[in-house]
Parts: sequence; C-alpha cells; structure tokens
Amino acid sequence: MGLLDGQRVVVTGGGSGIGEAIARRMVAEGARVAVLDVDGAAAQRVARELDGVAVEVDVADTDAMQDALVDTARELGGLTGLVNNAGIGSLKALHQYAEAEWERLIAVNLKGAFNGIRAVVPHLRASGGGSIVNVASVSGVRPTRGEAPYAAAKAGVIALTRSAALEYGPEGIRVNCVSPGFIRTHLTEFAFSNPAWIETLESRTPLRRAGTAEDVAKVVAFLCSDLAGYVTGQNLLVDGGSILPSAQVDHLLGELLGDPPREG
Ligand code: NAI
Repeated sequence: MGLLDGQRVVVTGGGSGIGEAIARRMVAEGARVAVLDVDGAAAQRVARELDGVAVEVDVADTDAMQDALVDTARELGGLTGLVNNAGIGSLKALHQYAEAEWERLIAVNLKGAFNGIRAVVPHLRASGGGSIVNVASVSGVRPTRGEAPYAAAKAGVIALTRSAALEYGPEGIRVNCVSPGFIRTHLTEFAFSNPAWIETLESRTPLRRAGTAEDVAKVVAFLCSDLAGYVTGQNLLVDGGSILPSAQVDHLLGELLGDPPREG
C-alpha cells in the first residue's frame, strides 16, 4: 500500500529538478500525476515515464492555468492535490534588477502559486477536499544577498499559504508549504560546479550535506498524505538545519568545543 493510493495530483514545474522528483515520489506512493511545465518536452518526458498527463503551460498565465487544471481534472478523473513547485531564480544586486525582471520573478514565483490555488480549488471541492503544497524557499524566511525579488516572492508564497489555509480549511482543503535549503538542480548548478562553495556550504549545515530533490519530494508526499491530515498553514523547512541561527557561528564555536578537524 502506498502513502498516496488513489490520489490524483498536479505538479507544476514537474519537468525537472525538485518537481520531477516530486512527481516520481507521488507515483511511487500510488498517486497518478499531471506534469505541468513551461517546457513542454520536459513535461512529456516525465509524464510518459510515469504514465501521467503532460501539459505545457506557463504558471504566470491565469487563463491558461484555469484551462490546464480543467483538462487535467478531466483526464485524471478529478483531482485531490496540487503542488505549486514551478519557480525561477536570479542573482544580482537589488539596484541592478530591471523592472521587467522583477515583474517576471514575482509573476512566476508568487502569482504562479496564486493562479494554481485558484484554478485547483473547484476541483478539490468536487473531490470533497484535498491538499495543496507550495514550494517556497529558505530565502523567503532568511534572505540571501542578490535575491531580493526572489526572496520577496517566496516570503509572499509563505504568507499566501497561511491565508489560503485559513480560507479553505473549513472545506477540508489543507494548504502547506515547504522551504528547501540548498538543493542540487539546474537552478543551483552555478554553485555545485564550484567545489569550494559546496565545501563551505556543507560545513555550515548541521546535517553536513547539501540537499537532494528527493529530500524535498519525501516531505511533499508526507504533506499530501493522510499522515498530515491535521496539518495546515505550515511552512516546513527542508534545509538540513542550515538556517538555525547558531549554524552561522557553529564552525567557530567548534574550535572552542574541541571538535575534531573536518576531513577533505
Ligand atoms: P529547476 O530549474 O530544476 O526546475 C524548475 C522547473 O520549473 C523547470 O522544469 C522549468 O521549466 C519549470 N518552470 C519554470 N518557469 C515556469 C513557468 N513559468 N511555468 C511552468 N513551469 C515553469 O529548479 P528547481 O531547483 O527544481 O526548483 C523548483 C522549485 O524549488 C522552485 O520553486 C524553486 O524556487 C524552489 N527552490 C529550489 C531550491 C534549490 O536549491 N534548488 C531551494 C529553494 C527553493
């Protein structure tokens, strides 16, 4: 028996990275999935392997998202969940962001989740309830330099999650979010291609490693399952403990506490 037997879940940005891992984990747990992605070929590839449905759609396009959810609900025979995972990032000083780039980052990362929630709710109501999981980021909790629009959007996603949980809770619709730390995907390849970066990052993470897309996918599956049936409005950090306040000085205190020198 799988954790998600009988569920029918839509995953946005399911064509690669964390979204692909979420779609795979959902199917491994017994769900059927629809893979939505602005990259139609990527969505097709993943959906074909998982015997799911693929839709090419930009989550920032309100009307297209409404249509995509109607189509997937018809193809899967109703919906019980949505994972708003699609997202984009950028790295530059705050004053260097052009207005159009600010608008695109907010449109995909924040409005995309808003669009997804509004498009899926009628289908979840028709199923008698369901679960929505938004993929935010540790950047929405504790900002990193160079990511102002992204951090603002992800903080917005966390607030949106809480508002939606309040509004839809009485209808049996749970809304939560996960905030991943540093996870190896296309989005973070710039860092993972630099061994010095990764060594520093891992040495300052209590669990002493970067995360994997599967680490996030497991938590999303939990939140979509009955195991989390009394959990709503929460932001669950999947970050190896990296934003715990003391993590920043942990390596310094280690010297005082007599930690053995790290290998490698
Ligand atoms: P990724 O770049 O590997 O995958 C993102 C997927 O979303 C791609 O398939 C892309 O085509 C799709 N996508 C992008 N814009 C879209 C749009 N407008 N409409 C539909 N699909 C779109 O990135 P990754 O790392 O898998 O990111 C997934 C989510 O996780 C994002 O929301 C990201 O902000 C979040 N996240 C990632 C972290 C990391 O370290 N990789 C850390 C914290 C959060």
